Amino acid sequence: MTASVEGPSGERVFIRLGPPPEEPNQFVVDGAPQSYSPEVRARLEVDAKEIIARYPDKRSALLPLLHLVQAEDSYLTPAGLEFCSEQVGLTGAEVSAVGSFYTMYRRGPTGEYLVGVCTNTLCAVMGGDAIFADLKEHLGIGNDQTTGDGTVTLQHIECNAACDFAPVVMVNWEFYDNQTPESARELVDSLRSGEPKAPTRGAPLCKFRETSRILAGLPDERPDEGQGGPGAATLAGLRVAKEKGMEAPPAAGGKS
Ligand code: FES
Repeated sequence: MTASVEGPSGERVFIRLGPPPEEPNQFVVDGAPQSYSPEVRARLEVDAKEIIARYPDKRSALLPLLHLVQAEDSYLTPAGLEFCSEQVGLTGAEVSAVGSFYTMYRRGPTGEYLVGVCTNTLCAVMGGDAIFADLKEHLGIGNDQTTGDGTVTLQHIECNAACDFAPVVMVNWEFYDNQTPESARELVDSLRSGEPKAPTRGAPLCKFRETSRILAGLPDERPDEGQGGPGAATLAGLRVAKEKGMEAPPAAGGKS
């Protein structure tokens, strides 16, 4: 695709647009569904109606609807994008622009477990880079690729605000803290064997499509066992402050 912009002297400058090197799919995947069958459409419309009803303006429901169609196909397909476009009254280009902006929306088929290795600064220096390199070799796949049995998609991810438990691996967005190459290998082996290790904290693990339905705002059927709450590493600073009798300084303006 070629686009033109205006240069400093008013001349036309032509630039060539193409997919970023790390994002070759651009919603064009061989075999991706182009439309849904009447049965699938009817089922999705029931869920979409429930989601849209939560918002004063239906276009505000676009993000959860993209998770809904991702739950159907495991990634954003032409069928899913078109469905969302019809539901919220936006053009296909507008829906694609939103879907391609956020990294939680996938552009290619996703395995049952999306294994994300944080390779941002803190996790990287604490071992995240080594874990990612080791898992690529162990699984025999590269970034954003899926094992032949369809169980694991490997991806390097950005900071997930769990730096106090670095290095962190996430499976379908559940936390596995303080990982090592060895523990990460055991983790992916457990996923592939059908007996997944439990996350370090948070809710129990479920498969990628179930996760996508939960992210769409549909009922979360997982047992609530009170897994939430901050861990010891997160509270360490507070504990030290209390032990030393430290207090926050008064707020500006003299009020404490
Ligand atoms: S750098 Fe990895 S969770 Fe923040």
